[in-house]
Amino acid sequence: MGNNISSSERKNKRIEFYKEIDNRTTDLEVEKELKYYIPNNYEDIDREHMFHFFQSRIFQNNFSSPIEERLMREGCKVLDIGCGPGTWLLDLASKYKKSLFYGLDNNSVYPNEIKPSNLNFIQADMFDGLPFPDNEFDFVRESSISFLVKADQWDFIISEMIRVTKPDGYVEFHEPYSTFNGIGPVLSKMHDALYKDEKSCILGPNGDKIGIVIQDLFMGFHNNEVAMENLSPILGISKEEYKIMIKDLTEEFKNTSPEYKLIRFWAKKN
Ligand SMILES: C[S@@+](CC[C@H](N)C(=O)[O-])C[C@H]1O[C@@H](n2cnc3c(N)ncnc32)[C@H](O)[C@@H]1O
Repeated sequence: MGNNISSSERKNKRIEFYKEIDNRTTDLEVEKELKYYIPNNYEDIDREHMFHFFQSRIFQNNFSSPIEERLMREGCKVLDIGCGPGTWLLDLASKYKKSLFYGLDNNSVYPNEIKPSNLNFIQADMFDGLPFPDNEFDFVRESSISFLVKADQWDFIISEMIRVTKPDGYVEFHEPYSTFNGIGPVLSKMHDALYKDEKSCILGPNGDKIGIVIQDLFMGFHNNEVAMENLSPILGISKEEYKIMIKDLTEEFKNTSPEYKLIRFWAKKN
């Protein structure tokens, strides 16, 4: 099980980042070593607890998959990878007492003794593969690990998460989408240092030529038979209403300036 690159090799791999500016691909002349840069001390643990409750408050729940009913049942199995201090797990294990919860982290920052009996923690490196058999869990999730997983490692992490999930189980990803409207110079500088590239434009005629191009593309994706077949039932409208909605949308774009955001991650291994 696992991929064939050892974790120490992986940690030593360096990646180059390229940024596409004005259709040119330019070397940023930055080589960054991707490593977990949060010290995992008590203050971090407190912050992670706080962040968990912040997210629960924002979303008004702890997960989005339709898994609640299953969690109430006997023996439902849940895995949280990169679980940190296990705040999410502690919250759920106390509420869904018949379910079994597992947290995996390569640092034992989780509670070893004072924890509900239906919660277990495993110290392991997720990049070595998840140490569980296939089809084991009803629900597998991660939260806030995107800054430590390189672009070319996601396939492996996601496929491992899917492998250990039972057929009909759910996989869920909780990550901050860090774009900030009204961003100032200091935050902007910090944001630029992250391993990603973002672009935005105004969708529609108020966004000049590029806005019209993206409007044409957007309309192309949505103004066709297949989209109408699939989207009208989801929207709860008839096909005729869908066609009218598409016409209304073209008019709406003339009077609004929706921001269209694109985000791109890429990396090259040496
Ligand atoms: C920002 S914390 C997120 C913790 C938790 N998921 C949350 O949302 O509060 C990232 C966690 O990933 C863990 N981690 C880093 N590298 C890992 C690895 N290779 N395998 C497993 N866990 C890892 C860290 O120890 C840390 O606890």
